[in-house]
Amino acid sequence: MRISVIGCGYLGAVHAAAMASLGHEVVGIDVDEDKIAALTAGRPPFFEPGLGDLLIRGREQGGLEFTSDVSRVREAEVHFVCVGTPQKPGEFAADVTYVDAAFESLVPYLTSSSVVVGKSTVPVGTAQRLAAVLADTGASVMWNPEFLREGHAVDDTLHPNRLVYGVAPGEDGQRAAAALDGVYRAILEDGTPRMVTDYATAELVKTAANSFLATKISFINAMAELCEASGADVTLLADAIGMDDRIGRKFLNAGLGFGGGCLPKDIRAFMARAGELGADQAVAFLKEIDSINMRRRVRMVDIARDALHGSFIGKRITILGAAFKPDSDDVRDSPALAVARLIATQGGVVTVTDPEAIENARRMFPELRFVADTTEALTGADAVLLLTEWGEYRNLDPDVTASLVAGKVLVDGRNVLDPVVWRDAGWTYRALGRP
Ligand code: UGA
Repeated sequence: MRISVIGCGYLGAVHAAAMASLGHEVVGIDVDEDKIAALTAGRPPFFEPGLGDLLIRGREQGGLEFTSDVSRVREAEVHFVCVGTPQKPGEFAADVTYVDAAFESLVPYLTSSSVVVGKSTVPVGTAQRLAAVLADTGASVMWNPEFLREGHAVDDTLHPNRLVYGVAPGEDGQRAAAALDGVYRAILEDGTPRMVTDYATAELVKTAANSFLATKISFINAMAELCEASGADVTLLADAIGMDDRIGRKFLNAGLGFGGGCLPKDIRAFMARAGELGADQAVAFLKEIDSINMRRRVRMVDIARDALHGSFIGKRITILGAAFKPDSDDVRDSPALAVARLIATQGGVVTVTDPEAIENARRMFPELRFVADTTEALTGADAVLLLTEWGEYRNLDPDVTASLVAGKVLVDGRNVLDPVVWRDAGWTYRALGRP
Protein backbone atom coordinates (compact mmCIF):
# COMPACT_ATOMS: atom_id res chain seq x y z
CA MET A 1 0.00 0.00 0.00
CA ARG A 2 1.06 3.61 -0.37
CA ILE A 3 1.59 5.24 2.99
CA SER A 4 2.68 8.61 4.32
CA VAL A 5 4.10 9.18 7.80
CA ILE A 6 3.97 12.73 9.14
CA GLY A 7 6.66 13.40 11.75
CA CYS A 8 9.91 11.41 11.71
CA GLY A 9 10.93 11.39 15.37
CA TYR A 10 11.33 8.29 17.56
CA LEU A 11 7.87 7.10 16.62
CA GLY A 12 7.52 8.17 12.97
CA ALA A 13 10.98 7.25 11.68
CA VAL A 14 10.66 3.74 13.10
CA HIS A 15 7.08 3.39 11.87
CA ALA A 16 8.01 4.51 8.35
CA ALA A 17 10.98 2.14 8.13
CA ALA A 18 9.03 -0.75 9.65
CA MET A 19 6.08 -0.30 7.26
CA ALA A 20 8.50 -0.22 4.29
CA SER A 21 10.01 -3.48 5.56
CA LEU A 22 6.52 -5.02 5.32
CA GLY A 23 6.53 -4.22 1.59
CA HIS A 24 4.64 -0.91 1.54
CA GLU A 25 5.65 2.21 -0.37
CA VAL A 26 6.32 4.77 2.34
CA VAL A 27 7.08 8.47 2.27
CA GLY A 28 8.15 10.01 5.59
CA ILE A 29 7.60 13.77 6.00
CA ASP A 30 9.32 16.07 8.49
CA VAL A 31 10.06 19.80 8.67
CA ASP A 32 13.63 19.17 9.92
CA GLU A 33 15.88 19.09 6.83
CA ASP A 34 18.83 17.62 8.76
CA LYS A 35 16.67 14.74 9.92
CA ILE A 36 15.43 14.14 6.37
CA ALA A 37 19.02 14.14 5.03
CA ALA A 38 20.15 11.65 7.70
CA LEU A 39 17.20 9.31 7.19
CA THR A 40 17.60 9.46 3.41
CA ALA A 41 21.26 8.53 3.79
CA GLY A 42 20.24 5.53 5.93
CA ARG A 43 21.60 7.12 9.14
CA PRO A 44 19.18 7.12 12.10
CA PRO A 45 19.12 10.64 13.63
CA PHE A 46 18.91 9.00 17.09
CA PHE A 47 20.17 5.77 18.63
CA GLU A 48 17.71 2.94 18.09
CA PRO A 49 18.96 -0.64 17.65
CA GLY A 50 17.95 -2.15 14.29
CA LEU A 51 16.68 1.09 12.73
CA GLY A 52 19.81 1.67 10.62
CA ASP A 53 19.45 -1.72 8.94
CA LEU A 54 15.78 -1.07 8.13
CA LEU A 55 16.57 2.37 6.66
CA ILE A 56 19.29 0.96 4.43
CA ARG A 57 17.14 -1.93 3.32
CA GLY A 58 14.25 0.45 2.60
CA ARG A 59 16.50 2.66 0.53
CA GLU A 60 17.99 -0.24 -1.43
CA GLN A 61 14.61 -1.79 -2.15
CA GLY A 62 13.21 1.61 -3.11
CA GLY A 63 10.05 1.54 -0.97
CA LEU A 64 11.17 4.15 1.56
CA GLU A 65 11.67 7.87 1.01
CA PHE A 66 11.95 10.89 3.28
CA THR A 67 11.17 14.48 2.33
CA SER A 68 10.17 17.85 3.75
CA ASP A 69 7.72 18.35 0.88
CA VAL A 70 4.30 17.70 2.39
CA SER A 71 2.62 17.65 -1.04
CA ARG A 72 4.14 14.19 -1.49
CA VAL A 73 1.39 12.84 0.76
CA ARG A 74 -0.81 13.18 -2.33
CA GLU A 75 0.47 9.79 -3.51
CA ALA A 76 -0.59 7.95 -0.35
CA GLU A 77 -3.85 6.23 0.61
CA VAL A 78 -3.15 5.91 4.33
CA HIS A 79 -1.55 8.72 6.34
CA PHE A 80 -0.02 8.16 9.78
CA VAL A 81 0.34 11.18 12.07
CA CYS A 82 3.33 10.56 14.36
CA VAL A 83 4.29 14.03 15.61
CA GLY A 84 5.16 14.79 19.25
CA THR A 85 2.83 16.02 22.00
CA PRO A 86 5.25 17.50 24.56
CA GLN A 87 4.24 18.95 27.91
CA LYS A 88 3.27 22.63 27.67
CA PRO A 89 5.82 24.81 29.48
CA GLY A 90 4.56 25.65 32.95
CA GLU A 91 1.49 23.42 32.63
CA PHE A 92 0.59 19.76 33.03
CA ALA A 93 -1.33 19.65 29.75
CA ALA A 94 0.03 18.23 26.47
CA ASP A 95 0.77 20.61 23.62
CA VAL A 96 -1.23 19.25 20.67
CA THR A 97 -0.39 22.05 18.24
CA TYR A 98 1.87 19.78 16.16
CA VAL A 99 -0.91 17.22 15.79
CA ASP A 100 -3.39 19.92 14.81
CA ALA A 101 -0.91 21.35 12.29
CA ALA A 102 -0.24 17.90 10.81
CA PHE A 103 -3.95 17.28 10.25
CA GLU A 104 -4.41 20.72 8.71
CA SER A 105 -1.41 20.22 6.42
CA LEU A 106 -3.07 17.08 5.02
CA VAL A 107 -6.37 18.76 4.14
CA PRO A 108 -5.50 19.91 0.58
CA TYR A 109 -4.40 16.41 -0.43
CA LEU A 110 -7.16 14.25 1.02
CA THR A 111 -9.98 12.58 -0.89
CA SER A 112 -12.95 10.54 0.26
CA SER A 113 -10.87 7.36 -0.08
CA SER A 114 -8.07 8.63 2.21
CA VAL A 115 -7.58 7.26 5.72
CA VAL A 116 -5.80 9.38 8.34
CA VAL A 117 -4.45 7.39 11.28
CA GLY A 118 -3.38 9.28 14.40
CA LYS A 119 -0.62 7.54 16.36
CA SER A 120 0.55 10.41 18.57
CA THR A 121 -0.37 10.20 22.28
CA VAL A 122 -3.20 12.71 22.67
CA PRO A 123 -5.71 13.85 25.28
CA VAL A 124 -8.99 11.94 25.06
CA GLY A 125 -11.35 13.81 22.73
CA THR A 126 -8.70 14.81 20.20
CA ALA A 127 -9.67 12.28 17.51
CA GLN A 128 -13.29 13.40 17.59
CA ARG A 129 -12.23 17.04 17.33
CA LEU A 130 -9.85 16.37 14.43
CA ALA A 131 -12.37 14.21 12.57
CA ALA A 132 -14.52 17.36 12.41
CA VAL A 133 -11.56 19.32 10.96
CA LEU A 134 -11.29 16.79 8.11
CA ALA A 135 -15.04 16.30 7.65
CA ASP A 136 -15.27 18.29 4.39
CA THR A 137 -12.57 16.16 2.73
CA GLY A 138 -14.57 12.94 3.20
CA ALA A 139 -11.44 11.22 4.55
CA SER A 140 -11.78 8.73 7.42
CA VAL A 141 -10.02 9.41 10.71
CA MET A 142 -8.94 6.73 13.16
CA TRP A 143 -6.68 6.54 16.22
CA ASN A 144 -4.15 3.73 16.51
CA PRO A 145 -2.07 4.27 19.66
CA GLU A 146 1.52 3.11 19.70
CA PHE A 147 3.03 1.14 22.57
CA LEU A 148 6.65 0.89 21.42
CA ARG A 149 9.48 1.29 23.89
CA GLU A 150 12.57 3.23 22.91
CA GLY A 151 15.47 0.83 22.54
CA HIS A 152 13.07 -1.91 21.36
CA ALA A 153 11.14 0.23 18.89
CA VAL A 154 11.70 -1.83 15.75
CA ASP A 155 10.70 -5.10 17.35
CA ASP A 156 7.76 -3.53 19.19
CA THR A 157 6.48 -2.04 15.90
CA LEU A 158 6.78 -5.25 13.90
CA HIS A 159 5.74 -7.58 16.73
CA PRO A 160 3.37 -5.58 18.95
CA ASN A 161 1.51 -7.36 21.74
CA ARG A 162 -1.77 -5.82 20.50
CA LEU A 163 -3.21 -3.44 17.92
CA VAL A 164 -5.89 -0.99 18.99
CA TYR A 165 -8.03 0.79 16.39
CA GLY A 166 -10.18 3.69 17.54
CA VAL A 167 -12.74 4.30 14.79
CA ALA A 168 -15.80 6.39 13.99
CA PRO A 169 -19.15 4.61 14.24
CA GLY A 170 -20.70 2.88 11.23
CA GLU A 171 -19.41 2.34 7.74
CA ASP A 172 -16.73 5.00 7.95
CA GLY A 173 -15.12 3.19 10.85
CA GLN A 174 -15.35 -0.18 9.09
CA ARG A 175 -13.72 1.22 5.98
CA ALA A 176 -10.88 2.76 8.01
CA ALA A 177 -10.33 -0.47 9.96
CA ALA A 178 -10.19 -2.48 6.73
CA ALA A 179 -7.56 -0.10 5.33
CA LEU A 180 -5.43 -0.44 8.46
CA ASP A 181 -5.83 -4.23 8.34
CA GLY A 182 -4.28 -3.98 4.87
CA VAL A 183 -1.31 -2.04 6.20
CA TYR A 184 -0.81 -4.44 9.14
CA ARG A 185 -1.66 -7.65 7.26
CA ALA A 186 1.67 -9.35 8.01
CA ILE A 187 1.44 -8.40 11.68
CA LEU A 188 -2.15 -9.66 11.94
CA GLU A 189 -1.18 -12.92 10.20
CA ASP A 190 1.34 -13.44 13.01
CA GLY A 191 -1.64 -13.75 15.35
CA THR A 192 -1.38 -10.28 16.94
CA PRO A 193 -4.64 -9.49 18.76
CA ARG A 194 -6.56 -6.54 17.34
CA MET A 195 -9.22 -4.57 19.16
CA VAL A 196 -11.60 -2.15 17.49
CA THR A 197 -13.01 0.54 19.79
CA ASP A 198 -14.48 4.01 19.69
CA TYR A 199 -12.11 6.99 19.55
CA ALA A 200 -12.17 7.82 23.25
CA THR A 201 -11.39 4.28 24.38
CA ALA A 202 -8.43 3.99 22.01
CA GLU A 203 -7.02 7.31 23.23
CA LEU A 204 -7.50 6.27 26.85
CA VAL A 205 -5.90 2.84 26.31
CA LYS A 206 -2.60 4.55 25.64
CA THR A 207 -2.72 6.97 28.57
CA ALA A 208 -4.04 4.30 30.92
CA ALA A 209 -1.26 1.89 29.91
CA ASN A 210 1.48 4.45 30.54
CA SER A 211 -0.16 5.52 33.81
CA PHE A 212 -0.28 1.90 34.97
CA LEU A 213 3.41 1.39 34.13
CA ALA A 214 4.34 4.59 35.97
CA THR A 215 2.24 3.46 38.93
CA LYS A 216 3.99 0.10 39.04
CA ILE A 217 7.40 1.78 39.10
CA SER A 218 6.40 4.31 41.75
CA PHE A 219 4.74 1.59 43.82
CA ILE A 220 7.99 -0.35 44.09
CA ASN A 221 9.90 2.87 44.71
CA ALA A 222 7.51 3.70 47.55
CA MET A 223 8.30 0.23 48.93
CA ALA A 224 11.98 1.15 48.55
CA GLU A 225 11.37 4.12 50.85
CA LEU A 226 9.86 1.74 53.40
CA CYS A 227 12.77 -0.66 52.95
CA GLU A 228 15.18 2.18 53.62
CA ALA A 229 13.26 3.08 56.78
CA SER A 230 13.11 -0.51 58.04
CA GLY A 231 16.32 -2.13 56.82
CA ALA A 232 14.61 -4.41 54.26
CA ASP A 233 15.78 -5.14 50.70
CA VAL A 234 13.46 -3.93 47.92
CA THR A 235 15.00 -6.18 45.26
CA LEU A 236 14.11 -9.30 47.26
CA LEU A 237 10.70 -7.83 48.02
CA ALA A 238 10.09 -7.26 44.28
CA ASP A 239 11.23 -10.80 43.44
CA ALA A 240 8.92 -12.26 46.06
CA ILE A 241 5.77 -10.26 45.22
CA GLY A 242 6.51 -10.62 41.50
CA MET A 243 6.25 -14.41 41.74
CA ASP A 244 2.51 -13.93 42.14
CA ASP A 245 1.53 -13.79 38.49
CA ARG A 246 -1.34 -11.45 39.32
CA ILE A 247 1.38 -8.94 40.24
CA GLY A 248 4.25 -9.95 37.91
CA ARG A 249 7.92 -9.04 38.26
CA LYS A 250 8.15 -6.79 35.17
CA PHE A 251 8.41 -3.03 35.81
CA LEU A 252 9.13 -3.61 39.49
CA ASN A 253 12.76 -2.57 39.27
CA ALA A 254 13.24 -0.10 42.08
CA GLY A 255 15.79 2.64 41.68
CA LEU A 256 16.01 6.13 40.34
CA GLY A 257 12.58 5.95 38.75
CA PHE A 258 11.12 6.82 35.39
CA GLY A 259 12.01 9.57 32.96
CA GLY A 260 11.94 10.03 29.21
CA GLY A 261 9.63 11.75 26.78
CA CYS A 262 6.55 9.66 27.61
CA LEU A 263 5.74 8.44 31.13
CA PRO A 264 6.31 11.74 33.02
CA LYS A 265 4.46 13.95 30.55
CA ASP A 266 1.71 11.42 29.86
CA ILE A 267 0.67 11.11 33.50
CA ARG A 268 0.64 14.90 33.83
CA ALA A 269 -1.35 15.36 30.62
CA PHE A 270 -3.79 12.72 31.88
CA MET A 271 -4.34 14.67 35.10
CA ALA A 272 -4.84 17.89 33.13
CA ARG A 273 -7.34 16.31 30.76
CA ALA A 274 -9.22 14.57 33.57
CA GLY A 275 -9.54 17.98 35.23
CA GLU A 276 -11.05 19.46 32.06
CA LEU A 277 -13.54 16.60 31.99
CA GLY A 278 -14.47 17.11 35.65
CA ALA A 279 -12.98 13.73 36.58
CA ASP A 280 -9.81 14.94 38.29
CA GLN A 281 -10.46 12.88 41.44
CA ALA A 282 -10.20 9.68 39.39
CA VAL A 283 -6.53 10.22 38.63
CA ALA A 284 -5.52 12.41 41.59
CA PHE A 285 -3.31 9.50 42.71
CA LEU A 286 -1.05 10.16 39.73
CA LYS A 287 0.19 13.30 41.47
CA GLU A 288 1.55 11.04 44.20
CA ILE A 289 3.05 8.71 41.56
CA ASP A 290 4.86 11.72 40.12
CA SER A 291 6.02 12.89 43.58
CA ILE A 292 7.35 9.47 44.59
CA ASN A 293 9.25 9.39 41.31
CA MET A 294 10.78 12.83 41.83
CA ARG A 295 11.71 12.04 45.46
CA ARG A 296 13.97 9.20 44.29
CA ARG A 297 16.27 11.71 42.59
CA VAL A 298 16.66 13.73 45.77
CA ARG A 299 17.15 10.56 47.82
CA MET A 300 19.88 9.45 45.43
CA VAL A 301 21.74 12.71 46.01
CA ASP A 302 21.31 12.33 49.79
CA ILE A 303 22.72 8.78 49.77
CA ALA A 304 25.68 9.82 47.63
CA ARG A 305 26.44 12.81 49.88
CA ASP A 306 26.16 10.63 52.94
CA ALA A 307 28.56 8.08 51.42
CA LEU A 308 31.02 10.95 50.99
CA HIS A 309 30.72 11.90 54.68
CA GLY A 310 28.29 14.76 54.28
CA SER A 311 29.61 16.98 51.50
CA PHE A 312 30.22 17.02 47.75
CA ILE A 313 32.40 20.11 47.87
CA GLY A 314 35.60 19.51 45.91
CA LYS A 315 34.73 15.80 45.42
CA ARG A 316 34.98 14.17 42.01
CA ILE A 317 31.79 12.31 41.19
CA THR A 318 31.56 10.08 38.12
CA ILE A 319 28.07 9.41 36.83
CA LEU A 320 27.60 6.31 34.70
CA GLY A 321 24.74 6.98 32.29
CA ALA A 322 23.03 10.08 30.93
CA ALA A 323 20.19 8.58 28.88
CA PHE A 324 16.81 8.13 30.61
CA LYS A 325 17.24 4.39 30.13
CA PRO A 326 19.75 2.04 28.49
CA ASP A 327 19.82 1.40 24.71
CA SER A 328 18.62 4.92 24.04
CA ASP A 329 20.30 8.30 23.51
CA ASP A 330 17.18 10.11 24.70
CA VAL A 331 17.90 12.47 27.61
CA ARG A 332 14.44 14.02 27.97
CA ASP A 333 13.67 14.21 31.69
CA SER A 334 16.59 11.90 32.37
CA PRO A 335 16.79 11.00 36.08
CA ALA A 336 20.57 10.53 35.71
CA LEU A 337 21.09 14.05 34.41
CA ALA A 338 18.78 15.51 37.06
CA VAL A 339 20.99 13.91 39.74
CA ALA A 340 24.17 15.08 37.97
CA ARG A 341 22.92 18.63 37.98
CA LEU A 342 21.83 18.56 41.64
CA ILE A 343 25.25 17.30 42.71
CA ALA A 344 27.03 19.92 40.59
CA THR A 345 24.98 22.67 42.23
CA GLN A 346 26.06 21.31 45.63
CA GLY A 347 29.75 21.74 44.85
CA GLY A 348 30.56 18.31 43.37
CA VAL A 349 32.93 18.11 40.41
CA VAL A 350 30.75 15.97 38.18
CA THR A 351 31.85 13.89 35.19
CA VAL A 352 29.11 12.17 33.16
CA THR A 353 29.70 9.32 30.76
CA ASP A 354 27.32 7.38 28.50
CA PRO A 355 27.79 5.07 25.50
CA GLU A 356 25.37 7.00 23.27
CA ALA A 357 23.77 10.02 24.88
CA ILE A 358 26.66 12.43 25.48
CA GLU A 359 25.90 14.70 22.56
CA ASN A 360 22.26 15.13 23.54
CA ALA A 361 23.16 15.51 27.21
CA ARG A 362 25.78 18.17 26.50
CA ARG A 363 23.25 20.17 24.50
CA MET A 364 20.88 20.14 27.46
CA PHE A 365 23.40 20.73 30.25
CA PRO A 366 26.53 22.31 28.72
CA GLU A 367 27.82 23.20 32.19
CA LEU A 368 28.50 19.53 33.07
CA ARG A 369 31.70 17.71 32.10
CA PHE A 370 31.19 14.83 29.68
CA VAL A 371 33.70 12.08 28.91
CA ALA A 372 32.93 9.37 26.36
CA ASP A 373 35.45 6.78 27.52
CA THR A 374 34.38 4.86 30.65
CA THR A 375 37.92 4.25 31.88
CA GLU A 376 38.82 7.91 31.53
CA ALA A 377 35.59 8.96 33.24
CA LEU A 378 36.28 6.65 36.21
CA THR A 379 39.88 7.68 36.67
CA GLY A 380 40.39 9.63 39.88
CA ALA A 381 36.73 9.54 40.99
CA ASP A 382 35.95 9.90 44.71
CA ALA A 383 32.55 8.28 44.13
CA VAL A 384 30.88 6.43 41.26
CA LEU A 385 27.11 6.63 40.70
CA LEU A 386 25.50 4.07 38.37
CA LEU A 387 22.37 5.84 37.17
CA THR A 388 21.51 4.27 33.77
CA GLU A 389 21.97 0.52 33.59
CA TRP A 390 23.76 0.07 30.26
CA GLY A 391 25.18 -3.47 29.86
CA GLU A 392 28.71 -2.08 29.98
CA TYR A 393 28.14 -0.70 33.49
CA ARG A 394 26.34 -3.81 34.75
CA ASN A 395 29.43 -5.79 33.76
CA LEU A 396 32.02 -3.55 35.46
CA ASP A 397 34.65 -5.49 37.33
CA PRO A 398 35.04 -4.21 40.92
CA ASP A 399 38.81 -4.83 41.00
CA VAL A 400 39.53 -3.18 37.65
CA THR A 401 37.30 -0.26 38.61
CA ALA A 402 39.07 0.02 41.99
CA SER A 403 42.42 0.39 40.21
CA LEU A 404 41.09 3.53 38.46
CA VAL A 405 39.25 5.47 41.14
CA ALA A 406 40.54 7.58 44.05
CA GLY A 407 37.78 6.44 46.44
CA LYS A 408 36.00 3.06 46.42
CA VAL A 409 32.49 4.44 46.87
CA LEU A 410 29.74 3.16 44.61
CA VAL A 411 26.06 4.11 44.63
CA ASP A 412 23.92 1.82 42.50
CA GLY A 413 20.92 3.86 41.40
CA ARG A 414 19.39 0.98 39.43
CA ASN A 415 20.00 -2.00 41.72
CA VAL A 416 21.84 -3.95 39.05
CA LEU A 417 25.17 -4.76 40.74
CA ASP A 418 25.81 -7.50 43.26
CA PRO A 419 26.44 -5.84 46.65
CA VAL A 420 28.29 -8.88 48.00
CA VAL A 421 30.80 -8.93 45.14
CA TRP A 422 31.48 -5.19 45.36
CA ARG A 423 31.76 -5.11 49.15
CA ASP A 424 34.08 -8.13 49.09
CA ALA A 425 36.32 -6.16 46.73
CA GLY A 426 36.57 -3.41 49.36
CA TRP A 427 33.95 -1.01 48.05
CA THR A 428 31.46 1.01 50.04
CA TYR A 429 28.31 -0.09 48.18
CA ARG A 430 25.10 1.91 48.63
CA ALA A 431 21.80 1.59 46.78
CA LEU A 432 18.22 2.81 46.81
CA GLY A 433 15.94 0.60 48.91
CA ARG A 434 18.64 -1.81 50.08
CA PRO A 435 20.50 -2.01 53.36
C1 UGA B 1 7.05 3.90 27.52
C2 UGA B 1 6.14 2.67 27.51
O1 UGA B 1 6.80 1.58 28.13
C3 UGA B 1 5.77 2.29 26.07
O2 UGA B 1 4.86 1.21 26.08
C4 UGA B 1 5.12 3.50 25.41
O3 UGA B 1 4.79 3.23 24.05
C5 UGA B 1 6.10 4.67 25.44
O4 UGA B 1 6.42 4.97 26.80
C6 UGA B 1 5.44 5.85 24.79
O5 UGA B 1 4.47 6.38 25.33
O6 UGA B 1 5.83 6.23 23.67
P1 UGA B 1 9.68 4.29 27.09
O7 UGA B 1 9.44 5.69 27.51
O8 UGA B 1 10.48 4.02 25.86
O9 UGA B 1 8.27 3.53 26.86
O10 UGA B 1 10.44 3.57 28.28
P2 UGA B 1 10.14 2.44 29.38
O11 UGA B 1 10.84 1.22 29.01
O12 UGA B 1 8.69 2.37 29.67
O13 UGA B 1 10.88 3.08 30.64
C7 UGA B 1 10.46 4.33 31.18
C8 UGA B 1 11.27 4.71 32.38
O14 UGA B 1 10.95 3.86 33.47
C9 UGA B 1 12.79 4.61 32.21
O15 UGA B 1 13.37 5.78 32.77
C10 UGA B 1 13.17 3.38 32.99
O16 UGA B 1 14.47 3.45 33.50
C11 UGA B 1 12.13 3.40 34.10
N1 UGA B 1 11.84 2.07 34.70
C12 UGA B 1 11.31 1.07 33.94
C13 UGA B 1 12.09 1.85 36.04
O17 UGA B 1 12.57 2.75 36.77
N2 UGA B 1 11.82 0.63 36.59
C14 UGA B 1 11.28 -0.37 35.85
O18 UGA B 1 11.03 -1.46 36.42
C15 UGA B 1 11.03 -0.15 34.49
